[in-house]
Amino acid sequence: SNTILTDGFGRRHNYLRISLLEKCNLRCTYCMPADGIVLSPKASLMTADEIFGIAQTFAQNGVDKIRLTGGEPLLRKDFPEIVSKLAVLDVSLSVTTNGILIDRHIDVLKQFNVKKINLSLDTLVSSKFASITLRNQFEKVIDNLHLLLNNDFQVKVNVVLIKGFNDNEIVDFVKLTQFLPISVRFIEFMPFAGNEWDRSKMVSQNEILSLVETQFSLEEIQKLEDEKNFTSRNYKIKGFQGDFGIISSITNPFCDSCNRIRLTADGKIKNCLFSNSETDLLTPFRNGESIENLISESIQNKKRVRAGMSGINEINDPVLHSDNRSMIAIGG
Ligand code: GTP
Ligand code: 5AD
Ligand code: SF4
Repeated sequence: SNTILTDGFGRRHNYLRISLLEKCNLRCTYCMPADGIVLSPKASLMTADEIFGIAQTFAQNGVDKIRLTGGEPLLRKDFPEIVSKLAVLDVSLSVTTNGILIDRHIDVLKQFNVKKINLSLDTLVSSKFASITLRNQFEKVIDNLHLLLNNDFQVKVNVVLIKGFNDNEIVDFVKLTQFLPISVRFIEFMPFAGNEWDRSKMVSQNEILSLVETQFSLEEIQKLEDEKNFTSRNYKIKGFQGDFGIISSITNPFCDSCNRIRLTADGKIKNCLFSNSETDLLTPFRNGESIENLISESIQNKKRVRAGMSGINEINDPVLHSDNRSMIAIGG
């Protein structure tokens, strides 16, 4: 049954994104505010058992895909325990990570069949990596990307584009797909609390495609069919092993086919990435109360597009997203 997870627009929410913690071992400026964030006290974060219990309720109601996010999910000391518990559910498990701790966890990922890894990597230049993440870990991430590929993981590389920083690397990232079987996804920069978003820093879908077209002919650039609940619209250069896509949340949103619900590390659900009205599930769960009615209510309140920010005017209005969380505490 999937009724409590179907919203007023007929969208079935079968994809749960769980943030495991609010901390990260990088400091990407577009994700984490310069002055840091106020971390939830440890006691209000979900334990491994609570993550399992809440996820199980979702799975019983139709969720068949769970993605673990953060902060950086691999920083959770009990990551192996969390994965081993979730693995008994009838869901496909995936992880979005910055890649630094992949080598430490690769055996657990293999053991529990976590084959889909999305890796954040915004630049192919070591010094630029250090300037956007404020940490010197470029070589580690590249080594771990190859480690994943050598072990037959399905890897998507997430590239958040920021004008003047990495828009000149779009073609290099596409060329990377010639010999690597990866999916590179170029992401339109999105506004969240404390990330100093500005329309002028964003590289749009149209601009990305024009830049690709400076290097490859229209004949070589093949549009792939959209996946069922896509975030990225995908393309492939003829003959290349990998492909590339564009996640255009700002200029060409894909909310009509949204199947996603989010659970924060402190146990609250968000019915949209951009929604700042949250529903606490952890407190009632700890009290032994049913959480299904709360889930249903949150799903029913979901707006059609971007939590009600349907146009560029609302997106541009900083007030509308200033009381949302920072990205680091949402998990993408
Ligand atoms: P797949 O499961 O491989 O399709 O991954 P995904 O694209 O759903 O998730 P990932 O964690 O790799 O996120 C990639 C980018 O897509 C990030 O910038 C996310 O913030 C963004 N993203 C993920 N889900 C949503 C969503 O529901 N809405 C919007 N607007 N963006 C999303
Ligand atoms: N805009 C777009 N994508 C973002 N991410 C983090 N912050 C932003 C933002 N402001 C991406 C990360 C990660 C994914 C979970 O979200 O690059 O890959
Ligand atoms: Fe779904 Fe909100 Fe993302 Fe649109 S912006 S796809 S409604 S989570």
